[in-house]
Amino acid sequence: MKQTILVTGGTGFIGSHTAVELIEAGYEVVIIDDLSNSKLEVLDGIEQITGTRPAFEKVDLRDKTATENVFKKYPKIEGIIHFAASKAVGESVQKPLLYYRNNIVSLINLLELMPKYNVKGFIFSSSCTVYGQPKPENLPVTEEAPHQKATSPYGNTKEINEQIIYDYIHSGADIKSIVLRYFNPIGAHPSALIGELPNGVPANLIPFVTQTAMGIRKELTIFGNDYNTPDGTCIRDYIYVVDLAKAHVAAMRRVLDEKTDRIEYFNIGTGHGNTTKEIVETFEEATRVKVNWKYGPRREGDIEKIWGDCTKANNVLGWKAETPLKDVLASAWKWQKKLREDGIM
Ligand code: UD1
Repeated sequence: MKQTILVTGGTGFIGSHTAVELIEAGYEVVIIDDLSNSKLEVLDGIEQITGTRPAFEKVDLRDKTATENVFKKYPKIEGIIHFAASKAVGESVQKPLLYYRNNIVSLINLLELMPKYNVKGFIFSSSCTVYGQPKPENLPVTEEAPHQKATSPYGNTKEINEQIIYDYIHSGADIKSIVLRYFNPIGAHPSALIGELPNGVPANLIPFVTQTAMGIRKELTIFGNDYNTPDGTCIRDYIYVVDLAKAHVAAMRRVLDEKTDRIEYFNIGTGHGNTTKEIVETFEEATRVKVNWKYGPRREGDIEKIWGDCTKANNVLGWKAETPLKDVLASAWKWQKKLREDGIM
């Protein structure tokens, strides 16, 4: 019998790609989203790709009664993948209480409801942001690297959420969890039927690159070229969103079907870093489209360099990022062109 998985934030960027991979792996998917940062039409994209339309409930997870009604309506839910969260770093500095309420109350509601509805597995979407800037000797960063004080309320909510899950499990709650710490998710499904849809001027690199290539933005600014890196620009570990989505399927299998520790942590990245400049150049090579760019001052709060040691995920989850960067960047461009074709952007 198919196992049913609840995907919160399932119409968002990573959530929608994960819903696709879950359905293709044979799971039944129920999506909860409040549509505050995504569109209902994403369900059409998921359906076109997989041939299955996932069940959908428009629910704000801060509303415990409404959330509980979802568990009543779908009593077969066995696992949760919790993506739903506010995620704009800058906005979180302006509106910290909104971020703490959204990202913390939602988690508490879900965790409280799990034992009552016999939901056993919880996959949490965390971030490499918990490591801050690792010491040079700690690069690539492993799951054991020390955490550092968050530089924004958004980052802090990831740290606090990890602690809440840990404390709850250690209190004896009858659930298991896998915490996935993502590096920088990029790209779009190869079909270009789903992808990332940033609100307003993108803060993240790849949407800014594709929008500049499309002529929506005049010029990309690379923030800083005086860092201690080979070309002076920052280094990140850019992970293809479809590869990342597959990591969730592996994690869900493990948490539900295998005898494992009650809480486990995995880095989900490629295991190597690229500079910002390399990303722009590789994009140009992959797409044969010029990106108008210049160097500008450093962005406040930016980390100089980070990339992940993902050996644990490779060995224990049997998962590996496999898509070449050129293909990933080409997928982001294909998605941007689809948005133009559809008159969205
Ligand atoms: C940011 C968040 C991080 C979050 C992640 C989600 C900050 C400080 N961190 O990570 O908490 O989990 O997004 O994806 O915001 N860049 C440019 N020009 C641009 C945009 C970006 O040069 O117009 C550079 C940045 O300086 C950085 C790299 O590109 O070196 C990646 O930036 P971004 O996509 O914003 O991700 P992070 O800063 O790594």
